[in-house]
Amino acid sequence: MKITINIFLYLLYDYIVNNLVLKIEKLVSGGDGISLVDGKIHFVPQTLPGEIVEVTIKEEKKNYNICSLVKIIERSKDRINPFCKFYGYCGGCNFQFTEYDNQLLLKKEIIIDIFKRTGKLELQDFEIIPSIPDHYRNRIQIHSNNECRGFKKEQSNEIIDIDYCPILVKNLNLITSDKSIALTGKNVVFSNGDDCYIDSLNNEANVSIMGKKISFNPNGFFQSNLYILPSLINLVIKYVIGENVMDLYCGVGLFSAFLPEFVKKIVAVEIDDRVKEFYKKNVGDRNYSFYPLSLERYIKNIKTESEFINTIIVDPPRIGLSQNARDYLIKMRAERIIYVSCDPVTMARDIQDLVSNGYKLSYYTALDFYPQTFHIESFGVLDIE
Ligand SMILES: C[S@@+](CC[C@H](N)C(=O)[O-])C[C@H]1O[C@@H](n2cnc3c(N)ncnc32)[C@H](O)[C@@H]1O
Repeated sequence: MKITINIFLYLLYDYIVNNLVLKIEKLVSGGDGISLVDGKIHFVPQTLPGEIVEVTIKEEKKNYNICSLVKIIERSKDRINPFCKFYGYCGGCNFQFTEYDNQLLLKKEIIIDIFKRTGKLELQDFEIIPSIPDHYRNRIQIHSNNECRGFKKEQSNEIIDIDYCPILVKNLNLITSDKSIALTGKNVVFSNGDDCYIDSLNNEANVSIMGKKISFNPNGFFQSNLYILPSLINLVIKYVIGENVMDLYCGVGLFSAFLPEFVKKIVAVEIDDRVKEFYKKNVGDRNYSFYPLSLERYIKNIKTESEFINTIIVDPPRIGLSQNARDYLIKMRAERIIYVSCDPVTMARDIQDLVSNGYKLSYYTALDFYPQTFHIESFGVLDIE
């Protein structure tokens, strides 16, 4: 760090008030900036690489410290003023302090770093498929009490009254602002662009995706960025091979519904047994077996090892694949595994296991399902060697 007169004065001040002055080296998974001081990593939220910042230590751990940002001493040229008046209060949009193009660059660097450290893999140059940067979000959790309606304040149960959120599609903003729509407690609301579905009032939501009607319970899982969703489905269609396919963690059958005609048999597994009827509606008269079980129970109780599977699609929640699930994939030796993930850390861990057991990562790309936040969706293709 070059010591300018300003920094010298800050160092002196910090010595007196017991704050630290740090230079941010890079951003890591979770979106925080990091700085190494005497071999100990310091995590600082809302910072950019190269910035010099004043921080206090919020939590001291054995191998790392969690810091709070007090002041930016030297500001990155990539820092902008967040465009939402609730930035910093509401728990979302922690990347809003830099332009969208730079968010994509930062996400790319974070992913490369995660795959190197956790997955022991050098990712070849890859693309991040962008979204529209705002008004993209179709699905929200909204909290209401007698006084206000909105999102929860960061790391707290306090509800902030939100009259307008710039990342929501238009008619979801009407739900947040129109208090004549009666809502109490926690509600999940989904918009298909025209209609809104509220989980406490509607048991079924419908949306047209690539010309196909897809139905689901607004209370269960569904993707929250309809703008970019066709790109993900098209990747699945492009990379699936063979007649026998497994769709694991299948939800309401979003991927199964779009599988090409050459797929003759689908084995689908999903822990949420409420989705069975929706899966049937969405997948229609294709030849499938649907198992409303956790993948772990399916592996234990159902014997399909004798069947040869060409492609296994997995789309697990953030925790990724359990050890049992990974062992099962390794034992199945499908020609191809398509791995869709919302957490690159667990994905990199799982891919490392698969690569150490006979697979190679043939293709990787990321899709920016969540602009203005540090979250990112990944798509990987693994082929048996
Ligand atoms: C990220 S979602 C993907 C759903 C679907 N592929 C889609 O895009 O709509 C993950 C799904 O896995 C299900 N799930 C979570 N843990 C599971 C497990 N251990 N076994 C099977 N399904 C599980 C969840 O209920 C959820 O529907």
